[in-house]
Amino acid sequence: MADALLRVRDVRKTFPGVVALDGVQLTVGRGEVHALLGENGAGKSTLLKTLAGAQRADQGTIDFDGRTLSPDDTPIQRQQAGIVTIYQEFNLLPAMSVAENMYIGREPLRNGLIDWQQMFRDAQKIIDDLGLELGPKTQVRKLSVAEQQMVEISKALTMNAQLIIMDEPTAALSGREVDKLHEIIRDLKAKGISIIYVSHKLNEVKAVCDRYTVFRDGKYITSGSVADVTVNDMVRQMVGRDVEFLKKQATGTVGDVVLKIQGVSRAGSVSDPHAVVLRDMSVEVRAGEIVGFAGLVGAGRTELARVIFGADPCDEGIVYVNGNQISPLRSPKQGIDAGIALVPEDRKQQACFLVHSIRQNMTLPSLGRLTKWKYFIDEAAETKLIEEYRQKLRVKMANDQVAIGTLSGGNQQKVILARCMALKPKVLIVDEPTRGIDVGAKAEVHQVLFDMARSGIAVIVISSELPEVMAVSDRIVTFREGQITGSMPAGEATEEKLMSRMAIGVGEHHVHAAE
Ligand SMILES: Nc1ncnc2c1ncn2[C@@H]1O[C@H](COP(=O)(O)OP(=O)(O)OP(=O)(O)O)[C@@H](O)[C@H]1O
Ligand SMILES: [Mg+2]
Repeated sequence: MADALLRVRDVRKTFPGVVALDGVQLTVGRGEVHALLGENGAGKSTLLKTLAGAQRADQGTIDFDGRTLSPDDTPIQRQQAGIVTIYQEFNLLPAMSVAENMYIGREPLRNGLIDWQQMFRDAQKIIDDLGLELGPKTQVRKLSVAEQQMVEISKALTMNAQLIIMDEPTAALSGREVDKLHEIIRDLKAKGISIIYVSHKLNEVKAVCDRYTVFRDGKYITSGSVADVTVNDMVRQMVGRDVEFLKKQATGTVGDVVLKIQGVSRAGSVSDPHAVVLRDMSVEVRAGEIVGFAGLVGAGRTELARVIFGADPCDEGIVYVNGNQISPLRSPKQGIDAGIALVPEDRKQQACFLVHSIRQNMTLPSLGRLTKWKYFIDEAAETKLIEEYRQKLRVKMANDQVAIGTLSGGNQQKVILARCMALKPKVLIVDEPTRGIDVGAKAEVHQVLFDMARSGIAVIVISSELPEVMAVSDRIVTFREGQITGSMPAGEATEEKLMSRMAIGVGEHHVHAAE
């Protein structure tokens, strides 16, 4: 490529015990949307961090916009050079306005004072240019996740970014928000700005990217034009083999009702305006059964899961496990004691103790079971358990003593899953279990869920990806605006049928149509 904006050559980066990048290359053209693909732990985020100046490469060169960048650049120097990264955990200040966040530290001045009018005008112009509906004076904390991401992009434009790096930008977005983001990306591209787009959702890559590069185990594998390959080709290049999306086999060995939820209701909350109102929700899950919860963002799936687990209270409703009433639960600890395990949707905030070791994260809640003669932790049993799950889920880690925060995103998710499995619960609830997980590992996670069900556990799977819900479930329960709108065997489900029970504004006759 003659007119490359970015040319990365022979970059190497090691951590104790791990070669994260082993002499990789990456070339991005001007005005090009470039997908960086690879399995969990392939080294994608590590390369992006070295581009952003957040990490120093051990060797290699980065040429950008016609000059070679110094390996000692700080993140600010890289921003000034035109490389802006949009992280998943946004760096916005919630109490400040959209415009203040966009210009923080670089506010327009007049006679040495901040020129507020100028700042709001400039901000408005950028927002309008992007076709966004954001008020520059709105406080950032009042915005949705998607809107905050738009603020980050607007902010990048105030810095005259030439390359915008997006690491899994759609992980927390709904379908409509993804479309909007893609529209903006096409817009940026038309302005001549280049994008590096990391995602495990290959249909998105097909939709919005021009070229792609694949890493595997820290090594460069290939790159090419997205138009020339199918999704399956990309999968093969990433994983090095064919991957099948297994569908759950109906085992016909579904047992008695394990979990019974009756009439769970909850009014809105004064303190949290985003809280979802739950209306008279009832569900039963049998031993060995996998029930999928399908619904749009805000339909109440996560909220119901948290009530069942004891993480949130409800106003009304009874929860039974094996016929015994366990509600009201006052804490997740009580939920765990009652035999319920939850893998939450937001692993960073709710699930990981990032500075603790993988070993501690995996076995902490089940240590009670691993004690010998009551007082001593049976380290041999602990090691065996960790090893078993490391192999089962193919967790990529140097050893189990390193902090979980140093694992790649997808591998962190696997450790959390292993932790819940180690609890040997009666009811397992997994909320977006494969978010951030690569295609190959997805099939492995599904297999583990099938195994869990086969061992007699009642499993609930919450997923925003309908193909995933349809593949893993025996039965699918649909949610809409805090209500359950139907239940059907997965064998009869189609995306259209499910959507009509999930979508807002569908006639009430659908509510009773199912079952
Ligand atoms: N600070 C660190 N200390 C130790 N090891 C690290 C650190 N950062 C990354 N690694 C290791 O480097 C490898 C590459 O990780 P990286 O986060 O770049 O993967 P990734 O391709 O982004 O994966 P994912 O798709 O799961 O996000 C992993 O094995 C990871 O554990
Ligand atoms: Mg990553």
